[in-house]
Amino acid sequence: MNISKICCIGAGYVGGPTMSVIAQKCPGITVTIVDINEQRIAAWNNADLSKLPVYEPGLAEVVAEARGRNLFFSTDVDTAIAEADMVFISVNTPTKTYGKGKGMAADLKYIELCARQIAAASTSDKIIVEKSTLPVRTAEALQSILHNTGNGVNFHILSNPEFLAEGTAIQDLHHPDRVLIGGENGEAVQALVDVYASWVPRERILTTNLWSSELSKLTANAFLAQRVSSINAISELCERTGANVDEVARAIGTDSRIGPKFLKASVGFGGSCFQKDILNLVYIARTYGLHEVADYWEQVIIMNDHQKRRFADNIVQTMYNTVSGKKITFLGWAFKKDTNDTRESAAIHVADALLSEEANVVVYDPKVTAQQVYADLDYLCSRSPEENRRLVTVVNDPYDAMESAHAVAVLTEWDEFKTYNWHRIKDSMMKPAFIFDGRKLLPDNKLGQIGFQYYAIGE
Ligand code: NAI
Repeated sequence: MNISKICCIGAGYVGGPTMSVIAQKCPGITVTIVDINEQRIAAWNNADLSKLPVYEPGLAEVVAEARGRNLFFSTDVDTAIAEADMVFISVNTPTKTYGKGKGMAADLKYIELCARQIAAASTSDKIIVEKSTLPVRTAEALQSILHNTGNGVNFHILSNPEFLAEGTAIQDLHHPDRVLIGGENGEAVQALVDVYASWVPRERILTTNLWSSELSKLTANAFLAQRVSSINAISELCERTGANVDEVARAIGTDSRIGPKFLKASVGFGGSCFQKDILNLVYIARTYGLHEVADYWEQVIIMNDHQKRRFADNIVQTMYNTVSGKKITFLGWAFKKDTNDTRESAAIHVADALLSEEANVVVYDPKVTAQQVYADLDYLCSRSPEENRRLVTVVNDPYDAMESAHAVAVLTEWDEFKTYNWHRIKDSMMKPAFIFDGRKLLPDNKLGQIGFQYYAIGE
């Protein structure tokens, strides 16, 4: 099967970068990314590349190269589906907020809508690719919907989960550790292998059956998050015993069986995926009656929630058990550096805890807008939107943000925070000048010498 036209449904953090790179690397394939969100599509089509809806280092350059050549962004979903040989589904699969499985299971309504729309709009055979992260055996449901509601054309379903990390998405897409393709139909699998083989070494393209591929994505995220929760659990023990968690991480990470990556203690993991995918894994295990398996993985989430709460509690306790009316400056709101994504960011939950104590929170993040900060807090429904705007200020200048602050809390590991003039900041702050470093980012010795009261996790 020769693929000349690809359609991707969902122009988000995955669909946008992934398809832009396919278009860049496969100039012979026309790639159209569609979305029902008109604003998002308009932003992808913006002539000013600094206004793309997703911030990722290197993304603007890729879009500049391919857009208008063989990469297109559109709201005309039906036409793009009808013309494509291969349709990627890259829509959101959030945790369910209602009904059975509320707070645990993945909400598949967007996936089902896509399947019905694909079935209705298709007048020729197509390969359908699951790019979204989905519960194991979703392909079965997709096949049933496509088969029962379609126009008699053939659909082959493939699973091709995405392993990119936000903040390094373009690097990850250009040089993936592996590409995973699950499927039952050899020709369809080969067609997708051929797309990736344009730039990915063949030995890095793994093929499996559908169910292994679907389950591998949930498992990969569960293992990654588990490492963070494991080192964070040790960080609390370090604080009680005089051990230093960075030293422990280095000592164990040099063991080749353990390895050095993903062993950095922090205020806790965030992002749209880890929590949602583990909750989904836990839900699936419970559905099959596997309660020990479910409890085992659920502990990763319990530990992460504990770490965020503990960080906020420590701020309050250290500041003489009251933060009411005190200005506390957050450096960073994004869930990690080099992205404007704030979904499930630890900053949101730490802010929420401090706001409940009537703190005045001032936020500075190089890539996150005030609108987004307020939207994240309003979404929690912990207090009224007016109250959030009364207690929280978002500023564009870090020095203004920290002036007269009682404390600074580092919530995101943006590199620029390390380059600030910390002497000047200390002079402008209330005394004692507290720093709570949730990312272990700043040089503790230096800050101590300057005269800060510096607290880092796991020390
Ligand atoms: P997102 O929320 O940024 O983007 C999803 C887009 O799909 C939205 O723009 C939405 O308007 C659109 N959409 C929903 N229903 C639609 C429909 N019926 N027709 C057209 N457009 C529709 O989500 P994101 O982050 O891109 O994630 C997508 C999937 O990829 C999820 O399943 C996620 O778990 C998975 N994933 C995400 C990663 C990440 O780093 N964000 C990494 C790997 C996988």
